[in-house]
Amino acid sequence: MTEKQFLPGNYLDLPKSGKATWKAPSNIALVKYWGKKPVQIPANPSISFTLDTCATTTSVSFDKKEDNGALSFDLLFDGKPKEDFKPKIHTFFERIREYVPFLGKYHFTIETSNSFPHSSGIASSASGMAALSMCLMDVEKTLNPSMAENLFHAKASYLARLGSGSACRSIKGSMVQWGAHENIPNSSDLYGIEYPFEVNSVFNTFCDTILLVHKGQKQVSSTVGHQLMHNHPYADNRFQQAFSNLDRLKPILASGDLEEFIKLVESEALTLHAMMMTSMPYFILMKPDTLEIINKVWEYRSETKIPLCFTLDAGANVHLLYPLSEKENVRKFIKDNLAEHCENGQYIHDGVGSGAIKINS
Ligand code: DP6
Repeated sequence: MTEKQFLPGNYLDLPKSGKATWKAPSNIALVKYWGKKPVQIPANPSISFTLDTCATTTSVSFDKKEDNGALSFDLLFDGKPKEDFKPKIHTFFERIREYVPFLGKYHFTIETSNSFPHSSGIASSASGMAALSMCLMDVEKTLNPSMAENLFHAKASYLARLGSGSACRSIKGSMVQWGAHENIPNSSDLYGIEYPFEVNSVFNTFCDTILLVHKGQKQVSSTVGHQLMHNHPYADNRFQQAFSNLDRLKPILASGDLEEFIKLVESEALTLHAMMMTSMPYFILMKPDTLEIINKVWEYRSETKIPLCFTLDAGANVHLLYPLSEKENVRKFIKDNLAEHCENGQYIHDGVGSGAIKINS
């Protein structure tokens, strides 16, 4: 699909008011997105597991207003006004209003909450922007009921991407690929697609336990980190590596070869952090406990042969990935050996999920 296809069709008469509620999950990248061009075009393709438990639920209520111009909205987080989130939403609305012009015709009340603990260090931008985009597409669907299902989802992902890149991978499940790649049919820089190749059933129920190592504010935001890939000495090689890792992943996902899966996923995580350490200015988002956990995972894997591996986001928290069949063993290991490295002993058991859902209010 092209950008033109996301421009609005002919709307029916605008209703006076209404409300839409959607829940969208977070996602965890296996091949990482790190580096972008304007506007929100990834420097390399990425792929992620859609998660299930970690999610944002957002309601958008809309009331027609007299003027047809300025954007107008209130934002509530956990039921309370949240002024500091507003500039990000305002920028997002400005960016997408060409595609959803009804934005100028209503006053919106956006109510949002996360399933995961507040300030857990889990990025809520992916699930948050995905949930908000689904709500806006819900409004668009009432104005244009004949809209096809595939366009609805592709446009939701397109809008979400303009809010936060990784958010475009949180619309669908269970594996979403984003970024044009010559060997992946229908792949696009503009939106995420459901991974189109064979995926071994072991991955459909894969588990992800998120170890909350550090819950405070990160020293460097993802937005700044992405920018530091411009003129980065290793950028070109890194982008090439991501392209080839997507090729390498294809037979691994089809066969369920966990040994090769682990090598690729852990290498991607460490490469992401290596890019941060070799940026100018350079920075480190891992904490001593992040490294303690990684070492313990390696030790555990070599002793038990249980295919447990880690991946990292742009932060200190560790995502532990493992097959459902090893759930009991791994969860005991986490409780007995890894919980001590988590802030307040906190971690979240999650797993592969199926994408955003509408909540009937
Ligand atoms: C390290 O999607 O948060 O999690 O597009 O600036 O909002 P923006 O960045 P964001 O970057 C996420 C980067 C990552 C890797 C990934 O999810 O692919």
